[in-house]
Amino acid sequence: MDAKLTAELKRIEQDFRKKLLESEKYDIDEKTNLTQNLAQAALEKTRTDFFGKKSHLQKVLHKIGNAKPQERAEQGVAINLLKEKMLLEFEKTREKVEKQIREQKLQKEKIDTSMPERTHKIGALHPTPQVIEEAIAIFAEMGFVCAEGPDVEDDFHNFVALNFPPEHPARQMHDTFYLQAGKKESVDEKLLEKWLLRTHTSPVQVRTMLQGKLPIRVIAPGRCYRSDSDQTHTPMFHQIEGLVIDQSSHFGHLKTCLSDFVRAFFENENVPIRFRPSYFPFTEPSAEMDIACRREDGKINILTSKDEEKLEWMEILGCGMVHPNVLRACNLEPEKYQGFAFGMGVERIAMLKYAIADLRTFFDGDSAWLQHYGFSPLDAPALARGLRAQNF
Ligand code: PHE
Repeated sequence: MDAKLTAELKRIEQDFRKKLLESEKYDIDEKTNLTQNLAQAALEKTRTDFFGKKSHLQKVLHKIGNAKPQERAEQGVAINLLKEKMLLEFEKTREKVEKQIREQKLQKEKIDTSMPERTHKIGALHPTPQVIEEAIAIFAEMGFVCAEGPDVEDDFHNFVALNFPPEHPARQMHDTFYLQAGKKESVDEKLLEKWLLRTHTSPVQVRTMLQGKLPIRVIAPGRCYRSDSDQTHTPMFHQIEGLVIDQSSHFGHLKTCLSDFVRAFFENENVPIRFRPSYFPFTEPSAEMDIACRREDGKINILTSKDEEKLEWMEILGCGMVHPNVLRACNLEPEKYQGFAFGMGVERIAMLKYAIADLRTFFDGDSAWLQHYGFSPLDAPALARGLRAQNF
């Protein structure tokens, strides 16, 4: 065979081997995607360089077209044999490289079950919404539904309709946050002078009665605002308002409803409670309800007997029979309808149930406090499962 051709084929074969070795030598053990991609790209290049249309082998094949027929056949066979040999070698190398890459990937995707679990912090539900949920669960059992009203109220709903006429001295009881004057079409002109942050949830009573759907049995949890701050008062706090209006509810129902609530809420049959006569312009007669507790070493606990030492009474709510003037202001006839109302301090009952000594800490936004006094978000209260959520 032509010596020149033999030498050329030899050179091609050598070149080819060199390239194959280069593809193999990419350090697959380095485990990076980059080296894997480089190895694959190098293989691809070797394939096109040596077997593609513009490869040396192809050129050589072309060249022999000019040779004598017999020589041509002989040379063709030699070239094709070489090509087949190279293809076999190429496939072998490619399989080897791809196998390595596959194994690398499997290695990387393997889950190490001995690795320690990643730590994550679970948020905690604040005691205020927790206690509101607990109270809703109890009152729902008694047939109450929830009502809502706005935080920014007008003078009419917060005071006038609740029998605090303008200049009534009882308005002084609430150190109110007033807002700039505004206008609201549905309210009588002369009642418009003042907008304020509601000082209690009682305006929701008015809003509910004005809807005129009777009988009424609602509770209204929500925020209230008063310019007050000490261990048992904060400028913003929560109340749960209650209102029952029908043709026959009386003070006995009021007492039973509230004492049943307290026993269910504190999960304690023997909580000492007392009703104290009081005054609210919107109820007559009016009372406040106190719970026996003891404060000691910065802690507060409810007591189970009135005879215990160092007994203190903590006021948790105001209540009474709805005043006829309020019924009239809400378009109900006092001769036909009557009922009772109450408004309890959510943080007050939360403090007593969960032994939280200072009311102000509810609003400090301290995450350590929340981790300590907060509740698991999944631990929604239900009468069936028990109301006392698990502290964690
Ligand atoms: N609104 C009263 C307060 O905030 C509480 C109350 C509500 C009293 C309903 C009687 C009836 O102090």
